[in-house]
Amino acid sequence: MSDLTGKVIIVKGGASGIGKETVLQLSGKGATVIIADFNEEAAKHVLEEVESISGKAAAYKIDVSNGDDVKTLIDWTADTFGTFNGLFNNAGIGLVKPLLEMDPESYHKVIDVDQHSVYYGIYYGAKKMVELGVQGTIVNTASIYGSIAATGSFNYNAAKAAVVMMSKSAALELAEHGIRVVGVAPGFIDTPILGDAPEVKAALAEQHMRGELIKPEKVASVVTFLFSDEASAVNGQTIPVDDGFLS
Ligand code: NAI
Repeated sequence: MSDLTGKVIIVKGGASGIGKETVLQLSGKGATVIIADFNEEAAKHVLEEVESISGKAAAYKIDVSNGDDVKTLIDWTADTFGTFNGLFNNAGIGLVKPLLEMDPESYHKVIDVDQHSVYYGIYYGAKKMVELGVQGTIVNTASIYGSIAATGSFNYNAAKAAVVMMSKSAALELAEHGIRVVGVAPGFIDTPILGDAPEVKAALAEQHMRGELIKPEKVASVVTFLFSDEASAVNGQTIPVDDGFLS
């Protein structure tokens, strides 16, 4: 895979799980990476790890559901590093509840963090790339639950299905500017979002063809590929990384 030296890439949700592994792999390929997360302490630890790989990174505290925060992050990145080539819209949360208990607060919380954050990233990110004349790449984290329904996940299903369509719709309009927009749809990934209950994790693992939870590194390597020049003909699509779950 080609070197990413000279690329400046923001990873939203870069302090944990899929985002953290992506930060490490992108910096391993030479990119300058901004670890954007509201967990400042965890982001600092990831920054220390990156500094031992390449030293080209920064941590930035952000609430991705706040549009002003996202705009300020993108402006700061371009001003600080002189360019801005990539954005990984990855931060997300789950909040499982039966539909008949899905009060407006529980619904909107997930929509704000998992869906509206992706809009803010695409909108402010693409505008900055066009302003800078950069042919950049935006990668969005969807989910297998953007294609199929899960019990207790009305909010999450709605958000992730929207993310799948946002990648297609944005790709269509941004192609003329040389900006690609693509997505990943992870299966069950062994990260803190799954919680700690061993019986729950075992039941999720069984749903994969190989009967194991997927390591976050496996999603990160697909995302890193999507940011590379070798992926220049991949556009608008959301790539499943689900060990056959959707097959
Ligand atoms: P994680 O919990 O390990 O990481 C999520 C990161 O996002 C954390 O560092 C957290 O601090 C950050 N974050 C959450 N809300 C934020 C906010 N409002 N502002 C800024 N940062 C915020 O979880 P994981 O698994 O790495 O999740 C990453 C993405 O992958 C999410 O969008 C999730 O929905 C998606 N996903 C995860 C799957 C899994 O099984 N782990 C499956 C399918 C999709």
